[in-house]
Amino acid sequence: TKPQLVDRFGRQVTYVRLSVTDRCDLRCVYCMSEDMTFVPREQLLTLEEMSRIGKAFVELGVNKIRISGGEPLTRRNILTVFESLGELDGLKDLTITTNATLLEKYAQPLKDAGVTRINVSLDTLNEARFKKITRIGKLEKTMSGIDAALKVGFQKVKLNSVIMKDYNDDEINALVEFVRERGMDISFIEEMPLGEIGDHDRAETYFSSDKILSKLQESYELTATDETTGGPAKYFRFNDSDSRVGFISPHSHNFCDDCNRVRVTAEGMLLLCLGQEHSMDLRKIVRANPNDDEALRSAIIDSMQLKPKGHDFNLNGQPIIMRHMSATGG
Ligand code: GTP
Ligand code: 5AD
Ligand code: SF4
Repeated sequence: TKPQLVDRFGRQVTYVRLSVTDRCDLRCVYCMSEDMTFVPREQLLTLEEMSRIGKAFVELGVNKIRISGGEPLTRRNILTVFESLGELDGLKDLTITTNATLLEKYAQPLKDAGVTRINVSLDTLNEARFKKITRIGKLEKTMSGIDAALKVGFQKVKLNSVIMKDYNDDEINALVEFVRERGMDISFIEEMPLGEIGDHDRAETYFSSDKILSKLQESYELTATDETTGGPAKYFRFNDSDSRVGFISPHSHNFCDDCNRVRVTAEGMLLLCLGQEHSMDLRKIVRANPNDDEALRSAIIDSMQLKPKGHDFNLNGQPIIMRHMSATGG
């Protein structure tokens, strides 16, 4: 398919992240506040509508779709969305970002549906800390989910770890050892200021990618590589292992100039940038045109004019974007 989604800055959109629910079975301190109000069910896209939207993007040249949440696997009957997207010819990479708590049940069916890779959010290997960071989670469930994903033979399972000063910055090496032992990759992520969260001051817990890298270089030989997974991570390879370590550094190394992606929320809002409010209501368009996707495709093409240059994140004071990460799945 020839690329049709190009924004005002010449950036081609080839990657769509579909958030299929804003709900989650965890309450991570950087992502949600303790008491969240969730979107009423009747405002959510149906599973069929999500599949239609995904298909329309692929027809316009998108080759990578990531299903995110909230926790995507908590959405009832979500497998049907993976199954229908998995059949699309132009789609090269069908991926999911999950906290892994439900992977024991879902790893095999996801693989069967055509999911190519799984990213698992995990910030600590310590049970008590896991409780502190996720507020309500049990580490054991995430661990058995990761085991299940590896066991059914996903080629690359990647950990996503948000490193926060005094929460888990002393576990950088332990997390790296964990992935190296299992042939996994890992991405370290600088925390982004989306929504009010309550438990900590993001300026105080900020821990830069450069500090993580220097720390790792004390123990490992790392070489930068141009390899990409189509996301914002910049990767390094270990000289003695197949694992890679990536850095997602919105604060210290802005990557907006290379942006190739947009997001759709569980309510069907197309968000042109994670760190801005520019959006288009796709739910309205899908519902007004139940029998053909021409209007949908044409609206998506038009939306490219709305894509802003980049985010304006800063860690001081109140966040500018009040939407929590759980509403867009990162
Ligand atoms: P890969 O396909 O493995 O490259 O995954 P990914 O990094 O694209 O997606 P994932 O869901 O694993 O996201 C990891 C982190 O990157 C999350 O914290 C996301 O919020 C962040 N991220 C992904 N895309 C963007 C983006 O466009 N802007 C910003 N600021 N952060 C992003
Ligand atoms: N900043 C950075 N990453 C975040 N995530 C959730 N909230 C934040 C935040 N405020 C991460 C999760 C998951 C990915 C989709 O986004 O850990 O791995
Ligand atoms: Fe793209 Fe916006 Fe993310 Fe920057 S913050 S990489 S422009 S989505």
